[in-house]
Amino acid sequence: MENNLNIMIVSDEEALMSQLKTIAETKTSHVIGVRSNEAIREMNRELAHIVIFVQTENDTSVEVVQMLKIINSNALILFIANETDFTLLRNMTRAGVDEFFVFPDESSLFSSRFPNIVKSYSAKKVANEETVSTTFGRGRGKIISFYSGKGGSGCSLLASSFAQTMKLESSAEVILIDLNGQYGGVETLLSIESNRSLADLLPVIEELNESHIRNVAQTEEFSKMEVLISPCDPEILETLNDEFVAKLLRTCRRSFDYVVVDLPTAINELVVTAMEESDKIYYVLTPDTPSLKIMKQYEELSERLGLVLTSRMEIALNKLSKDYEVKQKDLINVLRYPVIASIRQDTKGLQPYVNQGQPVRKQTNERKIIPFAKDIRKFARQVAKQ
Ligand SMILES: Nc1ncnc2c1ncn2[C@@H]1O[C@H](COP(=O)(O)OP(=O)(O)O)[C@@H](O)[C@H]1O
Ligand SMILES: [Mg+2]
Repeated sequence: MENNLNIMIVSDEEALMSQLKTIAETKTSHVIGVRSNEAIREMNRELAHIVIFVQTENDTSVEVVQMLKIINSNALILFIANETDFTLLRNMTRAGVDEFFVFPDESSLFSSRFPNIVKSYSAKKVANEETVSTTFGRGRGKIISFYSGKGGSGCSLLASSFAQTMKLESSAEVILIDLNGQYGGVETLLSIESNRSLADLLPVIEELNESHIRNVAQTEEFSKMEVLISPCDPEILETLNDEFVAKLLRTCRRSFDYVVVDLPTAINELVVTAMEESDKIYYVLTPDTPSLKIMKQYEELSERLGLVLTSRMEIALNKLSKDYEVKQKDLINVLRYPVIASIRQDTKGLQPYVNQGQPVRKQTNERKIIPFAKDIRKFARQVAKQ
């Protein structure tokens, strides 16, 4: 078994999917199967080394394969066509396909060649890793979304303080993206005044790159993290669709190590897309019964929307105090998701910062920081270790 090898099977046909899975699972236990419209998202989330790609019905194969190669140029792509077609063969080879098979005619050829294909790829991969590891770094940042179904839980404050702390406490490149679409979000917390917002990226979204993003983003004074502010005009916000958000987040992921997203309470198409693109969703929960109920509703809604929370959602407990309504121990017993952070209620400490619109941190290795900032630092360190 080659257990450091991820294999992704892309197929819209179930029977073929399970046939290919059986073959792939003889070589590694890290096999995932996805439909063609999920392939790019999955590749962004977890890099696959070998992709077995079954020709799609609506001729999107070239496009998807090209994207997969952009995300991981070292990926080995095995293409399975349903007929012998030389134009297709040529186009797919140009897109980056390494091997071409025609099913069902060549299915037994495929099974017999597969072990050797894996073997020679693994050998090459080991050789590559030795030289590549020093240059590899950027390119696969994490998307971390902060969400709470209940307004006032501290979602924006946690997202912005977490991002700022991460930038100060590590060498990581960090961008904070506000998707709230109204005043009073992160720009107020960080005193950022700007007439630019992420909506300014709309005209260039098709060819979006890092310099577009850095041009529109504001640099937060103390930490020097980048901040993309949301448009405050609801009419402008409406012109941004899910495709825009997906492209924005994917591009950011390629240029930053951490893409921290502050999400609004109200769930719409845009918010769901951001959640789907996220590696982690940190649900900000305050320890009281109404908040717990609202979180349950969110879990149910996610299930109905087909949004997978398992291994993605974690809970950031906020506003903990000695006399909170639900005790932390009882809380942990009822929660279905792991707790990533516990943050104290720190009204006194936070007051001057929030009132003056100052971030809770000013520099690296600060001596005197408020209890809230200490808890956030612990949170950021925990995430940085992962
Ligand atoms: N740990 C905490 N201790 C004290 N006050 C907090 C804490 N976390 C958040 N707050 C306060 O709660 C209010 C709402 O925070 P905000 O981040 O705007 O919430 P949301 O984005 O969830 O609506 C703010 O006034 C903030 O200062
Ligand atoms: Mg908010």
